[in-house]
Amino acid sequence: EPLLRDRPGNHRFGSIDPDSAHVQNMTRKNFTKSLLFSIFACVIGSSYQFGFNTGVLNAPQKVIEKFINETYTNQTGHEIQESTLTLLWSITVSIYCIGGMIGGFAAGYLCNGFGRKRTMLANILLNIVAGVMAVLSKYFGGYELLIAGRFMMGINCGISTGVAPLYLSEIAPTNLRGTSGTINQFAIVVGILVAQVLGLKQILGTSDLWPYLVGTTLIPSVIQLLCLPCCPETPQYLMVAKGDRAAAEKALIYLRQTHNVQEELDVIEEEYEKLKSETKLGIRDLFRVSSLRQPLLISVMMMLSQQLSGINAVVYYSTSIFERAGLSIENAQYATLGTSVVNVVMTFVSAVLIDHLGRRTLHLHGLGGMLICTCIISVGLLWQNQWPWASYICIAGIMLYFVAFAIGPGSIPWFYVAELFSQSPRAPAVAVAVLVNWFANFLVGFGFPVIQKTLENYAFVPFLILLGLFWTYTYIKAPETKNRSIEEITAIFRDKDDLPGYSRLTNNKGNDEIVKNV
Ligand code: GLC
Repeated sequence: EPLLRDRPGNHRFGSIDPDSAHVQNMTRKNFTKSLLFSIFACVIGSSYQFGFNTGVLNAPQKVIEKFINETYTNQTGHEIQESTLTLLWSITVSIYCIGGMIGGFAAGYLCNGFGRKRTMLANILLNIVAGVMAVLSKYFGGYELLIAGRFMMGINCGISTGVAPLYLSEIAPTNLRGTSGTINQFAIVVGILVAQVLGLKQILGTSDLWPYLVGTTLIPSVIQLLCLPCCPETPQYLMVAKGDRAAAEKALIYLRQTHNVQEELDVIEEEYEKLKSETKLGIRDLFRVSSLRQPLLISVMMMLSQQLSGINAVVYYSTSIFERAGLSIENAQYATLGTSVVNVVMTFVSAVLIDHLGRRTLHLHGLGGMLICTCIISVGLLWQNQWPWASYICIAGIMLYFVAFAIGPGSIPWFYVAELFSQSPRAPAVAVAVLVNWFANFLVGFGFPVIQKTLENYAFVPFLILLGLFWTYTYIKAPETKNRSIEEITAIFRDKDDLPGYSRLTNNKGNDEIVKNV
């Protein structure tokens, strides 16, 4: 197998034969207008919305707390206690992640059952209902309606985080899969930035205007509702799930803007032919079959490395982190905006680099860079009591931390999962991985204030240790997927442990059994 051979100086999984017919063919593909349009239609209502709703409550926290206080007083006749307010605010924020876990887990099944496009279309309705609930809470329902709206928004965004990376990686040709997947993260970070800018008190972050702030989420939904019906379902879904070769061909012709799609169609059809004779795989099989267990573990670790790097500790609490580092509240807010601008710019750079340098390389550089930055931040925090200028070390450390995050760990885990699995186990694998991502997001969001209180200036040390562990794991285990067809990637796991054509199953007694693939 020439694509898997070792090369001196290359990581075992990182080598690829540039002369292979497959690679030569794939490098010819370019972004067409229709591919770009389909990418836009997907990310505007899915990835962007996820980023926007992740960031939207941060800046106006104080004014929304005031609103909770007022409705509570109206309902009960007495002022709210500090601890009840903190609890209600925590619920408002965290219920979004609980919804995200549910939506993310369901996404895999919805995508397989209804298709990627229909799942996205139905998801728009959820977004509209959730957005309207949040807006109306101010005028009618009170904070309960806001909390219910955030929960629904979480489900909506959870579904988006499952379906968007799948759609993007399936409509792109192999050589553009990375860039297409990174556009998902680009739209997420643009969403976070827009939420932070609109949430400033000079714009919409005031007691009167915050419902408009949360309501702006409806605009991208309407845009998606207009654009997405004109885009195709993914060729993979049409062929592999529906067995509709003609429809898959039509979708490919539209996306590639050429009738010369035979080769690509053949690759998808090959997968379909193989799958026809295989049993349908579910979540349990991911844990039972060793050639699936390994990529599942890698997927989960990639998701954990993204979240347990501590990124959302900074995304959610950067203003207070900057204040601790010695900035005034006003400057701390601008510094927060600065982190998002850095995130947007560097994610763009990553989108350009990803299909040249590869996922593994960029993820390792990103994690390594974040590790160095957490050291810098910790040194800055420790020194600032003695030397005021040390707070600049801390601020510089945080900015560079975003640079490193955006290079790889921000975007790669989201689409890497789809690349490690063939069509049948892909959706269950995405379900598990996205669930883990949201759960870890929830843990960091909730845990960081406690960590900050307990460890004070050492608050970043746990992330430093975890980053070291994830770097080592990625270095040892994660294969390069750049420029490889899904068939070539899944072969890595089949060929590593099992005889070709055979799988290792764990039987009821917990022993491994080798069985022929059916
Ligand atoms: C990634 C993470 C998300 C985080 C964002 C920050 O998309 O999944 O949780 O908020 O990056 O840029």
